[in-house]
Amino acid sequence: MSTNAELLARRNAAVARGVGHVTPVFADRADNAELFDVEGRRYIDFVGGIGTLATGHCHPGVIAAVQRQLAAFTHTAFQVMSYPPYVELCEQLNRLAPFSGAAQTVLFTTGAEAVENAVKIARIATGRAGVLAFSGAFHGRTFLTMGLTGKYAPYKRGYGAITADVYRVPFPVTHRGIAVEDTLRTLDALFYADLDPRRLAAIIIEPVQGEGGFNVAPADLLRRLRELCDEHGILLIADEIQSGMGRTGRLFAIEHSGIEPDLVTVAKSLAGGFPLSAVIGREPIMSQVEPGSLGSTYGGSPIGCAAALAVLEVIHSEGLIERANRIGARLRERFDAWTHREDMATVRNVRGLGAMLGFDLVDGATARVVVSSALQRGLILLTCGRDAETIRILVPLTIEDALLSEGLDVLEQTLREVVPA
Ligand SMILES: Cc1ncc(COP(=O)(O)O)c(C=O)c1O
Repeated sequence: MSTNAELLARRNAAVARGVGHVTPVFADRADNAELFDVEGRRYIDFVGGIGTLATGHCHPGVIAAVQRQLAAFTHTAFQVMSYPPYVELCEQLNRLAPFSGAAQTVLFTTGAEAVENAVKIARIATGRAGVLAFSGAFHGRTFLTMGLTGKYAPYKRGYGAITADVYRVPFPVTHRGIAVEDTLRTLDALFYADLDPRRLAAIIIEPVQGEGGFNVAPADLLRRLRELCDEHGILLIADEIQSGMGRTGRLFAIEHSGIEPDLVTVAKSLAGGFPLSAVIGREPIMSQVEPGSLGSTYGGSPIGCAAALAVLEVIHSEGLIERANRIGARLRERFDAWTHREDMATVRNVRGLGAMLGFDLVDGATARVVVSSALQRGLILLTCGRDAETIRILVPLTIEDALLSEGLDVLEQTLREVVPA
């Protein structure tokens, strides 16, 4: 058997260095919120495959559904011979859509692909090209989504011309002194100076920014965006790829605001670790796109659909949405208490919704130290935010109470080790 060090050397030699890595250890097996590396060491997983595992690693219900599908068939290409799980999943997502009226859904493989296609659909439905996005947004790494992503380095640096017709305004972040009024003032100035709002096909927003730092979009902002969309015939896209599927204590994070989007992108926890994404949209919008111009060879794979149907069942039967709220309350209580401590690294700006919660350390360098010392203690953490100074929690919602406490204790010990000078 190879050691972590041997595998790391092979990884460095064989794998393009453009793919980053957070930990120098290699997975061997996993169970719910625990990961075991190739040397048999156990880790508590507070990252859950970057939020893909609301239902935990290898949930027995998800694995059984996938095994049944594997034994039947693995692929036909939905456009060649359709299969029931795809249709059933679309029916379920239409029923769960966070907007009133009829919905239709189309399935893809990755999050970026869902975002690309949401914009394609919006462009067809409006006959316009422009898209408005936010600073700090993360929508993916393909050319269009790279353009929508509101962080230059490392995502866009050196990649040349980015898709035109993308406009940007600041995302409100209270602790950085950016209020909703600042965002709206910038938008007003943009409309006054450079952009006819009737050229916008869509406004795309994460109801809770993921990569950008777990910043929650205030309901006031979403309400004003909805009004602007209605006034100028623009479509509102909620990118729920990280915030969706129950993590924030509602199935979709935008439900907290009471605002209805026109299109919703989902991926990550939708299929419990299997690659699957979706665009859910209002039927009159979705039905305008001509056959053949959406889809991809693997889009809505039968395996992914079987997994997603099982995930929806688990979210319902195990009450994971309520569980997200309970986990969130426990995290918030601990994090808030840490903000008053002087015997540990400075913790501040606790924020998020439900179990999608994070806090800031003084800078990215401190956060890096915390992530690596937590790993030494057997806890997997991930940062986000402008300078990667935010510790974000994307723990499986199925985590046992005792394991959650153990993980939080490890995090506390780690923060105490990184005492301010
Ligand atoms: C909000 C959001 N949108 C889009 C994406 C892109 O998804 P993928 O990496 O599957 O392409 C991500 C990934 O982190 C995301 O968090």
